[in-house]
Formats: sequence, C-alpha cells, structure tokens
Amino acid sequence: MADSQKIDVFYSVHTFQEEELRGKAVVVIDVLRASSTIVTALNNGAKAVIPVADMAEASKIAQNVDSDNYLLCGEKDGIQIEGYDLGNSPLEYTKEVVGGKTLIFNTTNGTKAIKKSIGSADILIASFLNVSTVVNTLKIQKKDIVLVCAGWKGRLALEDTLLAGNIIHLLNNGKLADESTDGARVAFGIYKIYKKDLAGVVHQSNHAMRLKKLIGDDDINYCCKIDIIDIVPRLKEGIITLQNGEK
Ligand code: MLT
Repeated sequence: MADSQKIDVFYSVHTFQEEELRGKAVVVIDVLRASSTIVTALNNGAKAVIPVADMAEASKIAQNVDSDNYLLCGEKDGIQIEGYDLGNSPLEYTKEVVGGKTLIFNTTNGTKAIKKSIGSADILIASFLNVSTVVNTLKIQKKDIVLVCAGWKGRLALEDTLLAGNIIHLLNNGKLADESTDGARVAFGIYKIYKKDLAGVVHQSNHAMRLKKLIGDDDINYCCKIDIIDIVPRLKEGIITLQNGEK
C-alpha cells in the first residue's frame, strides 16, 4: 500500500454521505450474507447481479426483462421475499441454478450499501470467501480506500467489522499507518483481538443469532470460509460483474 494512500471505514449505510466516497475505491462488505452471496453467485457462473434498493425497484426491472434469463432474488429481514425465485442463502446459488443468469438482487442492508456507493471511483464486493483477491486488487491501485460495512439497519455488525479489519491488516503487512482514521483503527483493533477465532466470533454476532433462529448454521459456516474463491465482483454502470479476464 502506498504511504500516501488513506483508508477509512464506515460501519453502516446510515453513517456516511455519498460525497464522502467521491474519487475513492470503495469496498462493500456484508459478510452475512449479501456480499458472500454475490461472490458465490458470480463464481458459480451467474452473468451479472443488478443490486436494487427496494422491492419497487426490483419489480420494475423484473417486469421488463425475459424471465428465462433473469432471476429475482433477495430477502427482507433474513427471509426470502414472497414471489422471488431465490432468497439470500449463498448455498442456493449453485452452478445449476444461477449459471448464465442475471440476478436482480434486493437485500435489507447489503444492496442498499452498494447503491449508496455508486458515485465513487470504483466499487468492489468483499467477503471472507474472496478477501485476499480483493486485497491484491486494492494493492495495485492508488486511490484512497473506503471500506463500507453494510451493518444492520444503521447499527454496526461485528462480522463486517472483522472483515474490514482483516482487509486493513492484509493491505499493510499487519501494521496500522500512524495517520489512520478512528474508523480504521477500531476495525484493525477488533480484528487483532479476534483473528485466531474469526468463525467463533462471527457465530456469536447479532445477525448470526438472528439467522440461526430462522435457518440454522449452514450459511454462517459457509460465509466464514476464508479465500475459497479468487474473483472480485465489481460494480460498473449499476451492474456487478467480474473483472476483465476472470473466469
Ligand atoms: C442484508 O442485506 O442485510 C443481509 O444480507 C441480510 C441476510 O442475511 O439475508
């Protein structure tokens, strides 16, 4: 990471203004589960993901496309939305189901964080599943970096904070730059405390508890896997696809 490059962290969709992202490379993080699902879907051959802010936007797009090639996907408060083809479990997004399809994707916090980042210079999607590949991509660019955690309805989410800290740790060889923002310091510090038991701590997070009651442990176990996927989803002109040359 270049010395002059700055890194900041926002802890929910409600904690920043769009102007604060102008000219920055933004990494959107929603470990449980939107960013893990996007990474998995594109790795399994989905053609593209269109993030939307709400049900009205999703329906408007769905009404104007050919339903053979598009899937309507997402959740509200963790539960698949009625009438949608898929919910937000990354385990549903298999090659057989999503191969060649474009996904219209609507989630409680994750897709709202992506939509709010649209005015920035570059937008990447990160999860534990692809963390090292995201970091390698960030290392070869010179823009200041902002890690946007989706959080949960304006609140901090521990699993997103841990991944933000992991990214900062990997970007700077395990060190924290002296001039780091408070946001970056907090994420780095939390990651350092818990890095030996990331999965254990994610399992105790508020959203993991919520999901366990609804659907059990499987998605949480999957979303805690580190570096099992080597792609970086990138948002351009409102659509998330893979970087040139991937897959
Ligand atoms: C979100 O966008 O808030 C999440 O991905 C919720 C979920 O676990 O489905």
